[in-house]
Amino acid sequence: MTRWIAITRAVSGSIADCELTFLERTPIDLENARRQHHDYEAALRSLGVEVLSLPEEPHLPDAVFVEDVAILLDECAILTRPGAESRRPESESISRALAPYRKLLRIQAPGTVDGGDVLVVGRQIFVGVTSRSNRSAIEQMQTFLAPFGYSVSAIPVRGCLHLKSAVTQVAQATLLINPDWVERKNFPGMQFIEVDPSEPNAANALLVGEKLLYQPAYPRTLSRLAAADIHPLLVDQSELAKAEGALTCCSLIFKE
Ligand code: GLY
Repeated sequence: MTRWIAITRAVSGSIADCELTFLERTPIDLENARRQHHDYEAALRSLGVEVLSLPEEPHLPDAVFVEDVAILLDECAILTRPGAESRRPESESISRALAPYRKLLRIQAPGTVDGGDVLVVGRQIFVGVTSRSNRSAIEQMQTFLAPFGYSVSAIPVRGCLHLKSAVTQVAQATLLINPDWVERKNFPGMQFIEVDPSEPNAANALLVGEKLLYQPAYPRTLSRLAAADIHPLLVDQSELAKAEGALTCCSLIFKE
């Protein structure tokens, strides 16, 4: 039986100083953010995932968003070089946590990539070209991953922080997409569910095996998922959303 592991990290006490790109800064209730993050970890456990929860990094405001510092595949893990300089020190503890599980490869300067820009669908890897992720990193990923049979494509993204703000996988061949931020034509052969136009931030869902985590904040898009017979487990992440985080950002999930 497949054993899933999720690496998470406690919310930093300095989260109020997080990076923001497309959002205005608004007050973050630290206690609520921590409670919601515990609920997120509990939701993962309820799906049978073993959660390895790292202690907070008090001086790294964005360190709860562990997804951005590594890309996990069955064959290896790539330690990213995050696009925001303030986030680069987050890698050290994650590399220690991953070392027992995967061969580690590293993106080198001038490459930058955030894990939030990397969507893996089978052997296809889509990488958003954004303020955080550049073509040098994509070329390095192509070199690392061609021997394992992965294709790595650069995807234009507009209007949002990361590719996975705009599109995520919600079933085997189905993507949930905001077509204003990324175009369908970049994902040949896939089926699509579009977010409700009144919920532009609704495209980020977390698929673990065949189970889906989603946020209750997007009821209209939730109805669209239900119409496609997709019934996710709901977990509220409204507080970390103020730090420009979403469901996929808060874990690194892989098969043991
Ligand atoms: N606050 C999340 C990020 O900008 O990386």
